[in-house]
Amino acid sequence: MTRAVSIIAAVAIAAGALVSLPSSVSAQSDPIAARKEIFQSFLRNVRAINGVLQANGDVRPLAATAQEMSAAADRLAPLFPAGTGQGQTSATTRALPEIWTNLPAFQERAVALKTALATFGTAAATGDAAQTRTAFQGIDAACSACHTRFRAR
Ligand code: HEC
Repeated sequence: MTRAVSIIAAVAIAAGALVSLPSSVSAQSDPIAARKEIFQSFLRNVRAINGVLQANGDVRPLAATAQEMSAAADRLAPLFPAGTGQGQTSATTRALPEIWTNLPAFQERAVALKTALATFGTAAATGDAAQTRTAFQGIDAACSACHTRFRAR
């Protein structure tokens, strides 16, 4: 019985993640717009998490938010095709060309975000607000670490 319930929960989380994934722009035709949408969804999620923490709300539902963000992060790599950096295209982008000359370092920072999200998700699932708050700083640090090096001001 417990098992059936957890499977249903997993499916619900997966469905929720799918529904909330940005889909209004085509990744193939406009990877720059598609990656910006994902980053905007990160911002919305980070703000939502911050809101719950500020209000001392129940942190447990935030585990699903972290999972959702992790799924969105998985979709980023193909949205950074070569030639789509700032100054390499007529499109407006803050992606620095250094991404493509240091691809392993860029990918490492994407992995670091996923690790921070997993740590956060684990903390949130325990319901421990203090631990969740600390883990949230890890997410923030992971966003900044990539922006500092790979995003134009
Ligand atoms: C692996 C690197 C990396 C990580 C990790 C990362 N970002 Fe970014 N982010 C970028 C790059 C590169 C851009 C510029 C994209 C562009 O303009 O094409 C960007 C752009 C953005 C933007 C502006 C999007 C727009 O509409 O122009 C926001 C907001 C943002 N990121 C938020 C976040 C948040 C919040 C996190 C953490 C949860 C995060 N990012 C993690 C690399 C990263």
